[in-house]
Amino acid sequence: MSESRFADLLERVMGLSAASIGPGAIERAVDARRRETGLRDGDAYWALLQASSAEVQQLIEAVVVPETWFFRNPQAFRAMERDVLGPRLRADPQAGARLLSLPCSTGEEAYTMAMALMESGIEPHSFSIEAVDISQHAIDMARAGCYGRNSFRGHELAFRDRYFDARPHGWAVRDEVRAPVRFAQGNIFAPGFMAQAGVFDVIFCRNMLIYFDIPRQKQAIAVLRRLLAPDGTLFVGHSEAGLMREEGFVSAGMAMAFAFRRAPEAAALRAPAGPTATVVPPPRASLRAPVAKRPAALRVIERVRPTRPETTRSIAKTLDLAALRRMADDGRVEEAERGAQTYIRENGASPDALLLLGLISDAAGQGKAAAHYYRKVLYLDPGNVEALGHLALLLRREGDHAGARLIDERMRRQDGRRN
Ligand SMILES: C[S@@+](CC[C@H](N)C(=O)[O-])C[C@H]1O[C@@H](n2cnc3c(N)ncnc32)[C@H](O)[C@@H]1O
Repeated sequence: MSESRFADLLERVMGLSAASIGPGAIERAVDARRRETGLRDGDAYWALLQASSAEVQQLIEAVVVPETWFFRNPQAFRAMERDVLGPRLRADPQAGARLLSLPCSTGEEAYTMAMALMESGIEPHSFSIEAVDISQHAIDMARAGCYGRNSFRGHELAFRDRYFDARPHGWAVRDEVRAPVRFAQGNIFAPGFMAQAGVFDVIFCRNMLIYFDIPRQKQAIAVLRRLLAPDGTLFVGHSEAGLMREEGFVSAGMAMAFAFRRAPEAAALRAPAGPTATVVPPPRASLRAPVAKRPAALRVIERVRPTRPETTRSIAKTLDLAALRRMADDGRVEEAERGAQTYIRENGASPDALLLLGLISDAAGQGKAAAHYYRKVLYLDPGNVEALGHLALLLRREGDHAGARLIDERMRRQDGRRN
């Protein structure tokens, strides 16, 4: 059963690169399906696959990796609300917004998009979320909307009390969160995929491109480009960020959110600068806007990242903190983390390096460590609006509303001083 014909078929139909799911995974899936269908050998199962698209779908179900959970990389949802849709929908709730979760797997990502917007007071009727995945099984589970422990990871689970009802076998998502979300089965490589869907203001396409080889990644990105509104924002997984840059997207400048925009829009925003300068478009204005107020030095990166691999030590020495931060935004998170630690060892505690470590911990769902770093920043730089903003959001997510209000108050005082 080690024949490559099964792997070739899966590559052709769904873009799966056999190497991405580990040696033997396709072979095991084929063997399981062959036994399930009661067929004697690989040739008989191959013949069935040629004759039955339903069986092809069953084989797909057996090889997909549906790993997902609520608020996976919370920075992305926060940035989507704070820097992209929140300001717009609060200013004009009638403006509406269209969001896409592709792939949505069992639905956690799409429901999280809804919760993130609702958390900031946006009414569910002012946005809609399409959620698509190749796995019919995953879509059925998403529609059922009842989740076990594995979907709730980390310690910041206060949202579960607000948006779910406890059931004997898990937690059922409440109707108000379901209302704006619509699930559909779909394969990004199917001819005419979402041809009538129009464009989306926000697309989450996280942790799918990593399963494709390079030509298929390019093909999938072309589909995403078509589905993304000209001023839309595309969120990818952290290991996919470098790829987006290679494909001509530009960072939307949202720390650790791995958010991108289409290049032409960014080109229009590009300020006249030296040949190697890159300007990250600043986030749009927001009510909380901690990022919008970040020092200009963190927005304008004056050196491009090196093309040659370098040791962490030399990176910390030769690149400034803004470059380390950019590296983290590009998905080179571990390198950036080591770089920030080296920077602190060599230069002493620095608010910007500590803030970066806070953002990295926050993105990894390590709320306690993130809060520790944010507080260290505030010890050294009590008016640091970015640390204040992120700490307030973190406390709110943990259900510490009194603590969050105190930080909000500090932030307002800080704003008063600035204006
Ligand atoms: C690891 S999950 C990612 C879920 C979610 N976006 C996240 O980051 O948590 C990958 C999903 O990609 C889906 N997938 C794989 N190939 C696909 C394709 N060709 N079209 C649509 N979905 C696909 C799988 O079914 C699986 O549910």
